[in-house]
Amino acid sequence: MEGKEQQVRLDDSEHVFHSWSAQRNLNSLPIEGAAGCFFWDYEGHRYLDFASQLVYANLGHQHPALVAAIEDQASILCTVGPSFANAARGELARLIAERAPGDLNHVFFTNGGTEANEHAIRMARLHTGRVKVLSAYRSYHGATAASIAATGEPRRWGSEPGLPGIVHFLGPYLYRSSFGAETEEQEAALALAHLRQVLEFEGPSSVAAILLETVVGTNGVLLPPPGYLAGVRALCDEFGIVMICDEVMVGFGRIGEWFAVQAWDVVPDLITFAKGVNSGYVPLGGVIVSAKVRASFLDRSYPGGLTYSGHPLACSVGVASIRVFEETHLLSHVREMGETVMGPALEQMAVRHPSVGEVRGRGLMWAIELVKDRDTKEMLVPFNAGGSENEPMTRLAQRCRELGVWPFTHFNRLHIAPPLVISRAELQAGLELVDQALLVADEYCEGARAPIADPILI
Ligand SMILES: Cc1ncc(COP(=O)(O)O)c(C=O)c1O
Repeated sequence: MEGKEQQVRLDDSEHVFHSWSAQRNLNSLPIEGAAGCFFWDYEGHRYLDFASQLVYANLGHQHPALVAAIEDQASILCTVGPSFANAARGELARLIAERAPGDLNHVFFTNGGTEANEHAIRMARLHTGRVKVLSAYRSYHGATAASIAATGEPRRWGSEPGLPGIVHFLGPYLYRSSFGAETEEQEAALALAHLRQVLEFEGPSSVAAILLETVVGTNGVLLPPPGYLAGVRALCDEFGIVMICDEVMVGFGRIGEWFAVQAWDVVPDLITFAKGVNSGYVPLGGVIVSAKVRASFLDRSYPGGLTYSGHPLACSVGVASIRVFEETHLLSHVREMGETVMGPALEQMAVRHPSVGEVRGRGLMWAIELVKDRDTKEMLVPFNAGGSENEPMTRLAQRCRELGVWPFTHFNRLHIAPPLVISRAELQAGLELVDQALLVADEYCEGARAPIADPILI
């Protein structure tokens, strides 16, 4: 195996250009295989995948039903152009429409999340005849022209100046409220007042869309406080603006709902999805389109398309995935794991570790927000830290990996988003390892206080 591993390393370092990275000193870990909630390297190290790769492997690795779907579809029809009707594509569109809220009945398929947001923005602009798009600072919407311009966080900076007409606003985030709020109700009301003010200054009649992540994912696992999404819906209705909910990360079960908007009982005009629709076994994404927006394109052509839109291999995995969700009652499993295992365990960690400022999440998507000092809420590492400034988080992630759990870290947060099929025992075991790893973060706290209780019991 050593020879094979070395060849993988060599080919990678000599010929693969990696995303979001300085290329010189990359040392990507070669992965030999994966199954269920684990993957492993060539040296026999097994990792519990607490990140579902990039929060997409919702049904875990090598799920037999998904592998079989690819094999079956490959033996029938590997590919067919988007202008034809196709059994797998049509069935998946119907299954999605049946589970989507309100009148979101048609699906435009893409190859991933960023293309979904590109097309949602294009549809909103053409539908309204307006140009501007409002999106949140704490957001990531993808890496192509419109999506990266709509992205609020620092990954946008390298692509600026971006597409004209995108304006950012501040969304709700009670722990670090931009508005001085002390309760969820205040945070929702003040964030909505801010959004209304931004609209007023931009001229509401020039705004095509408000684009927001239903639950902010990478930028913090920020759940909208009660009333916020309904308030955004009301603003959109008042000014004839298209409401686009980006559910690329949270759609398809991540928080225990088919679509996260269903937890807040709100119906947007467009929902974008990708990742969890088929666990990324074959790239797939899309826009679910309401009857109102679709009506704009009944008699005029929609000016957009993709060679691989609705690729049969990708769609067949989506169909199989929805069947697995239903046969295994996966949505209720996700809710149960969140409520009975993840939430209580993280609450215990918040008591025990001085470095934990706040824990938050729902279903199987949670964040542990790390601080140097709980009173001042000073972040464990500065916003967008790089190099040595980021040492506490680098060491924490390293410690998790040594213990056998693969984490997702972003700025001063550790996110936990395992495959939705994770068992109670696997989840408990992984959380115990995270609890141990957090001792590394505690070392950086003011006065470096020791943890104040015994290891968590779950
Ligand atoms: C909320 C959200 N939107 C869009 C994207 C972009 O998706 P993709 O990388 O498939 O283009 C991501 C990716 O992480 C995401 O989390």
